[in-house]
Amino acid sequence: NLEVDLTNTVAKIQPTMYGVFFEDINFAADGGLYAEMIKNRSFEFDNPFMGWIQPNSDRHSFNENSGIASAVNYTGNPTNKNYIRVKVSNDKGYELINEGFRGMGIKKDAAYSLYISASKKSGDIKTINIQFIDKSGAVLGETKIVLTSSDWKDYTSQLVATKTEAKAQIKITFEGTGEIDLDMISLFPVDTWKGRKNGLRKDLVQLLYDMNPGFLRFPGGCIVEGRTLEQRYQWKKTVGPVEDRENLINRWNTEFSHKLTPDYFQSFGLGFFEYFLLSEDLGAEALPILSCGMACQFNTGELVPMEELDPYIQDALDLIEFANGSIDTPWGKIRNSMGHPKPFNLKYIGVGNEQWGPDYIERYKVFAKAIKDKYPTMIIVSGSGPFPEGDYFEYGWEELKKLQAEIVDEHYYKPPQWFRDNASRYDAYDRKGPKIFAGEYAAQSVAIASPLNKNNWECALSEAAFMTGLERNAEVVHLTSYAPLMAHEEGWQWTPDMIWFNNLESYGTANYQVQKMYATNKGTDLLSITLDGKPVTGQSNLYATAAKDSDKKELIIKLVNTSNNIQNVTVNLFGKRVNSKGTISVLTSDSLTDVNSFETPNLISPKESIFKLKGKKAVVDLEANSFVILKFKL
Ligand code: AHR
Repeated sequence: NLEVDLTNTVAKIQPTMYGVFFEDINFAADGGLYAEMIKNRSFEFDNPFMGWIQPNSDRHSFNENSGIASAVNYTGNPTNKNYIRVKVSNDKGYELINEGFRGMGIKKDAAYSLYISASKKSGDIKTINIQFIDKSGAVLGETKIVLTSSDWKDYTSQLVATKTEAKAQIKITFEGTGEIDLDMISLFPVDTWKGRKNGLRKDLVQLLYDMNPGFLRFPGGCIVEGRTLEQRYQWKKTVGPVEDRENLINRWNTEFSHKLTPDYFQSFGLGFFEYFLLSEDLGAEALPILSCGMACQFNTGELVPMEELDPYIQDALDLIEFANGSIDTPWGKIRNSMGHPKPFNLKYIGVGNEQWGPDYIERYKVFAKAIKDKYPTMIIVSGSGPFPEGDYFEYGWEELKKLQAEIVDEHYYKPPQWFRDNASRYDAYDRKGPKIFAGEYAAQSVAIASPLNKNNWECALSEAAFMTGLERNAEVVHLTSYAPLMAHEEGWQWTPDMIWFNNLESYGTANYQVQKMYATNKGTDLLSITLDGKPVTGQSNLYATAAKDSDKKELIIKLVNTSNNIQNVTVNLFGKRVNSKGTISVLTSDSLTDVNSFETPNLISPKESIFKLKGKKAVVDLEANSFVILKFKL
């Protein structure tokens, strides 16, 4: 017997309560959300020909019969270092092939926009021919570009795919012989999210949109910090024309991987402007996290000396101007030039990702002062280090409390049992202290990054149980997000992940379904729900939370049963009239080891039906291992 008092509003639930954490790990950006299909499109990887294959290796050397491509340096251009010079010797069919990001996913009858920057140097090369091919070389769509200039010129065209193929490649050939320079060979589906150029993969954004996230945290994660300071994420290098954005090796390149991924670079085609735009599209608050002058402490831990911290702080101040400044300010002007005169209305900024210790606190203080001096209403998110245990965690918290930090980011990657045991984690947190951002968490079925570590039902159910504790503590917990968000089936460095994709398809895991159920049913005001006068935090494997949505005029009750048996639960409703006919959504699966997959993407997904109250009681048989949401109009 549980009791809900409808007149007793315990706390406000922040609109930011359930959000998403995006990091370019597992090929989530280039090769994932960012819809560019050509890998190493402007020959900027450490090996300028990575991603580009020339089928007969004998064609790769100078003076071969058909031709050769070689990389050329633009002297003095630090952001766009290379282009290639192709020498076509005769008409034997010199070919340049791009393999895409583990192939290119193309869909029958869909159109793809091609962009090539070219300059005819010598000879009589008349056209560039571009074809989709499959592994056997069969042509699956083609187009031709007629060259009209010996100066650098941008050419555009479209290819239409004649067949659906997950592993297509692009083949480039030439008509005529001579020398031609090529740079920025780019290919996007026409059908991106909102049809935008330089756009995002529609299916992946749709999955995020359907969650109705309260915030979007970007760009990470460890990539914020970099393995070295030199390799940190620098937002200023990710805005402006895409061809001028300097590429960078990804911090997740090769390391911590089930398979080596030496081809993992950041093109920054998905940069800070695009992240702000995505936040706006999702109706989510943007939450950028910036380097605080500390490289990843799991790697070099390199520190910028305190007297050299200014440029890092300036990056933070300039970012706020980029997001919110008028178009007459230097950075607001750049935002305007990118097509967004209106401010993005940035409210939050994160200082450092997962840093810890005195080095962090020392740097945080300087950042916080500079930001607050110039932008007093900006809300600053600070870090508490990884996995909350150990002295550094206590130390960080004590210091941040003294400094009256506003929001502290906590991360935990733990076994499912930990999540079931910790639903009361925040019950004792000081209501007057800093607010909580549970910024990265996920239950681990085995161990991080193991191929055996699955997004199984036990993990998702345990998170659902734990999340009742986040919600019940809405007074102190203001933002939460599962991590990592996305992973390519063939190119991941970390498991588990909330959304899996390949070149053509994507699906939400059981964990995604849990997050979505919470985020789309969060309510505005927390109500008390009790069992024998106490919060429901796992007694008899039962967890519960109750809220009302003052805008939609709804009562929302979330119940989680982590036992292997059906539990008959009666929720007694006090205080206000409730419409007796409501709905029940049930998320469960036959086995705790069940997972969603490309073959069965909806195996674990909520089933909704009508639910009727008995007088003022909701009498419900909670299925074994299930997460249930009851909803009634008020
Ligand atoms: O989510 C994966 C990684 O876990 C993040 O990059 C980092 O912040 C944490 O250690």
